[in-house]
Amino acid sequence: MYLQRRNRILRTTPAIRSMVAESSLTPNDFIVPLFIDEGENVETEIASMPNYYRRSIDLTVKEVKELWSLGIKSVLLFIKCKDELKDNTGREAWNPDGLMQRSIKAIKDAVPEMYVMTDVALDPYSSYGHDGIVKDGEIVNDLTVEALVKMSASHAEAGVDMVAPSDMMDGRIGAIREGLEKAGFTKVGIMAYSAKYASCFYGPFRNALDSAPGFGDKKTYQMDYANRTEAVKEALMDVEEGADIVMVKPGLPYLDIVRDVKNAVDVPVSVYNISGEYAMIKAAAKMGWINEDKAILETLTSFKRAGADLIATYFAKDAVKLLNH
Ligand code: PBG
Repeated sequence: MYLQRRNRILRTTPAIRSMVAESSLTPNDFIVPLFIDEGENVETEIASMPNYYRRSIDLTVKEVKELWSLGIKSVLLFIKCKDELKDNTGREAWNPDGLMQRSIKAIKDAVPEMYVMTDVALDPYSSYGHDGIVKDGEIVNDLTVEALVKMSASHAEAGVDMVAPSDMMDGRIGAIREGLEKAGFTKVGIMAYSAKYASCFYGPFRNALDSAPGFGDKKTYQMDYANRTEAVKEALMDVEEGADIVMVKPGLPYLDIVRDVKNAVDVPVSVYNISGEYAMIKAAAKMGWINEDKAILETLTSFKRAGADLIATYFAKDAVKLLNH
């Protein structure tokens, strides 16, 4: 048998395979989500996210130092708000002495070069567990946007590098950009969760922050998973309104969306490898059904192949350690 083209030649050895690899992972690709709790010396494992923790500020700072030493450049902060501070206005979200604001300051004081991002949405602060203000059983858009502008400015005041609005209200990116400009925060960026789908895979995260919706679901603001063109519309509008980075979320079931958005926009694209995706790999590995380390690297590489420039993932630390092997 004589063949003109033998595709296996480029797969012969690890050397040639690595030379022709089209995608690769580095520590620069990762954004590490961190869950922060009140108290001191507190470290609580999240039941639905094995080996992932909610920590008080002091232990979070310790973790951030370790992440920096591993070559990781960015963290994305989430806080667990005390029940007694939750209400329907979300006002704790812009308390200058709130847990988020204190966390930003502590991290920037300890590791000034770490690029700090914060989740911007009302759900951890909402007595209804929704991302916006509720009126007559509805999540109202424009009032919520006003709250998100205040929240973003207060994170900026505390020293955040980039805010990441994850609420999916209409017009919030433009409003936040304008709010930051007016307050003089011209260096604070916006990573828009542009194509954020109403997904069952957020379940473990909502356990972590005790932020599950108290009534209904999030389908009147998060996207319908049947849709593809709409994701491109959302991303293009966010870029126009001033987003510096656009995000697709969840990750694995939405790789087609990552590629579509990447092809459509002229800003970096990030993807969120969310809690349910983490939990699935952890659970299957625990059962002995898949090799965890290999599943992590294959999953994360698939995001790069799909077109993601950045990956928010609970596996960042594991991945960096595996890459250094
Ligand atoms: C809050 C928010 C959610 C996630 C990030 N920001 C949950 C939600 O929208 O209900 C999910 C992250 C994950 O599941 O890992 N707006």
